[in-house]
Amino acid sequence: MDIGFVGLGNMGRGMVQALLRAGHRVVVWNRTPERADELVALGAVRAATPFEAAEVGVVFTMLADDAATEAAVAGPHGILAGLPHDGIHVAASTLSVRYSAELAERHRTRHQHYVAAPVFGRPDAAAQGALRLVIGGAPAAIERLQPAFSALGQQQFVIGERPEQAHAVKLAGNFLILSMVELLGEAFVLVEKAGVPRERFFEVAAAVFSSPLVERYGRTLLERRFAPPGFRLALGLKDIRLALDLAEATATPLPIADLIRQHALEAVATGKADRDFAALLEVIEAHAGIGHA
Ligand SMILES: NC(=O)c1ccc[n+]([C@@H]2O[C@H](COP(=O)([O-])OP(=O)(O)OC[C@H]3O[C@@H](n4cnc5c(N)ncnc54)[C@H](OP(=O)(O)O)[C@@H]3O)[C@@H](O)[C@H]2O)c1
Repeated sequence: MDIGFVGLGNMGRGMVQALLRAGHRVVVWNRTPERADELVALGAVRAATPFEAAEVGVVFTMLADDAATEAAVAGPHGILAGLPHDGIHVAASTLSVRYSAELAERHRTRHQHYVAAPVFGRPDAAAQGALRLVIGGAPAAIERLQPAFSALGQQQFVIGERPEQAHAVKLAGNFLILSMVELLGEAFVLVEKAGVPRERFFEVAAAVFSSPLVERYGRTLLERRFAPPGFRLALGLKDIRLALDLAEATATPLPIADLIRQHALEAVATGKADRDFAALLEVIEAHAGIGHA
């Protein structure tokens, strides 16, 4: 398949590697062009603008947020202008529900398709083609994307025809992940203050509450793997804000998200924006008077 790919950050670079490995021809664009060098060496083709990547007919975006996506979508060099009639824009980033719905409408008026396919999985899963894709869009467009989706993911969940609902599911999922980091962090601090080594508690928690979330994030917190970031704290703050926006729009109280937002803001204020989201632990520790940082 010929695929355009816009956004070569931690996730995008891995996803392009998986697409190339599956034999697809991938035309890539990134704001900071040097980030494409390694992929071009692997066989990707460099585009000069998002327009050129979209001209291919199917274009993925894996950009930081709504604003970054809009910067690549709009204008004379953007995706809306470059995508042919019947072309498909696949938004794989975690976007707001409102913006995702708006994108669907803008593509529709241009006789283009828009599919939301936000993903679960870290950059290593992206590079291995082992993401989990949460998909919303027209069934015919989703069918056309199968060669790309099967190269990227180990599992697909089609939520329905409204793309923005896939983004709602992704935001609710990230709310769970971020809450788990907060909860594990608080529990680690609690046992430590009671004189119990965190490792001992983790052994119990991993057995009793066995789940990939507890295992993965518990270990990340224990080993203080905050850099280089798999998932930047700034992006976690963005996701919790998007979940709170959706909560407000749907009149859904989300008190734990309020707390995590404040902790994440505090982490950003103390210079941790580009560390992994697990660095939230340092905020929790500071509140408890523990200094591991
Ligand atoms: N990391 C994870 O574990 C993970 C997992 C699932 C989903 N996600 C979601 O996937 C998306 C990408 O995440 P990531 O970890 O790959 O992020 P990242 O490493 O921070 O990369 C962000 C990408 O967005 C681009 N960008 C930012 N602002 C821009 C602008 N104004 N105009 C054009 N491009 C801009 C960056 O370009 P430059 O290279 O020029 O800065 C880069 O390509 C996010 O929505 C994130 O929430 C992440």
